[in-house]
Parts: sequence; structure tokens; C-alpha cells
Amino acid sequence: MSERALPPWPYPRLMAHRGAGKLAPENTLAAFRLGASFGYSVFECDVKLSGDGKSFLLHDATLERTTSGAGRADALTLGELAMLDAGSWHGPAFAGEPPATLAAIFRYLRANGFSCNVEIKPSPGNEWRTGAAVALDVKAMAQGMAVVPLLSSFSETALEAARATVPELPRALLLDALPADWLERLERLDCAALDANHKALSAGIVARAHAAGRRVLCYTVNDPERVQTLFEWGVDSVITDAVNRLPPPA
Ligand code: G3P
Ligand code: MG
Repeated sequence: MSERALPPWPYPRLMAHRGAGKLAPENTLAAFRLGASFGYSVFECDVKLSGDGKSFLLHDATLERTTSGAGRADALTLGELAMLDAGSWHGPAFAGEPPATLAAIFRYLRANGFSCNVEIKPSPGNEWRTGAAVALDVKAMAQGMAVVPLLSSFSETALEAARATVPELPRALLLDALPADWLERLERLDCAALDANHKALSAGIVARAHAAGRRVLCYTVNDPERVQTLFEWGVDSVITDAVNRLPPPA
């Protein structure tokens, strides 16, 4: 195991998942505004490319669940995506909320002194191209932000592309379960953090990551007692849906 000092971690201990978890339509500007109303200042969101190569927010590979569209998300141009309703599925209060472009989200973050964890969520087959393009967009849009955005992905190819394109942006490797070589994977991608499913963590895993100079972030934790346990283990930040039930982040 290599010895390495812990990298900077300018993020609060709690981050809002997909903008504001489940209280507003995920990955829309409305969700970010709602998360901010509960005191959150750093927001996780899922970002992929439109058919014409523009960064926008959507979790799924297809449009059905969270928009009025259908089919693969990368089959539409950004102009076509802008015509969709990404709010009505959640409820009438959000009818007409558009899918969010990364540019719109960064305009909001910059105007309010906020930051984000951009989860690179490539459409299938677009891993390298998405990692490179999203990293370049984040670099350009984050100029002058006090808290540098954190990139993360389940796709090691996307993280490798982000590293090759914009090495200075911090990266986190998302892992749902921890393979035996999880630390070697982090080291190969020069990740600042492990970003794990909280169920895969233990006090020992957190200590091992820290000893190797890697921060620990985890998702998606909505039970206050579990959050407390994770902090006692030394977890650096927790991503939550429960922005209305967990105390304002510090
Ligand atoms: O980035 C953490 C978390 O969002 C990963 O899972 O499926 O909610 O994007 P998912
Ligand atoms: Mg996500």
C-alpha cells in the first residue's frame, strides 16, 4: 500500500442526492433549489451526453421514467431534450420543469456559491467520450468557483478519460460492492476518494482508505442513526435523499 497524505476535501459532510433526493424531480434545477432551501450547498447529480454531445442531467439510460420522452437519452439533441417535461412524473407542482443542462446547473451553482458532485453516467457505449466531454465542460464552467466540483463514476473508462483530459479535477470511483482490488483501482485512476454504497463500508475499510491517502464518500443514506455511525467510522461525506430530515450540513 502506498503512503499518501489525505487530499483536500472542501465538501460538507452531507450532500444532496440528485439535487434534493425525492422531494422534487431528480436532476432538475427545481430539485437543486429545494435542496438549497434545506441548507444544502453541494449536490450530487447524474450527467450524460445528448445526441449532439452536450452535457445534461439524467439518471437513466432511457427517458421514460423521468421525462415525457421515450427511448435512449442519447438519441435526442439538446434542443429536442429541452422540449421534454421532466417534472410532471413527480407531481403537478413541477409540471413543465425542463431537463437540466449542465450549463444551467453551473450558472445556478456559481450564482449562489454552491458546488456539486458530478456523477458521470455515460449512455451505454459512450463511456470514454462522456468522461472526456463532461470533464472538459466542468473545467470550463467551474472557473472561479470556491469549491472545486468533484467528478465521480461507476465507469472506470469514463474516469480514465476524465483523468486524461482534465487531470486536475478531483475524481471518486463509485463502487456498489467492493472488489478485492478496490484500493488498487483507486490508485490506478488516481482518485481522491472511494465513493461506495454505504452497505459495503466498515470502520476497517474507511481506515484502510484513509491510510492510503483516499477520502471516503458514500451513498445513499437516509437514516440519521446510520449517518452517525458512518461519521464515527470517519467517512468524509454522505450523499442523502433525506434533505428534510437530516440536519443542515456543515
Ligand atoms: O453518486 C452516488 C449515487 O448517485 C450513485 O447511484 O444510481 O443514485 O446514481 P445512483
Ligand atoms: Mg448518481
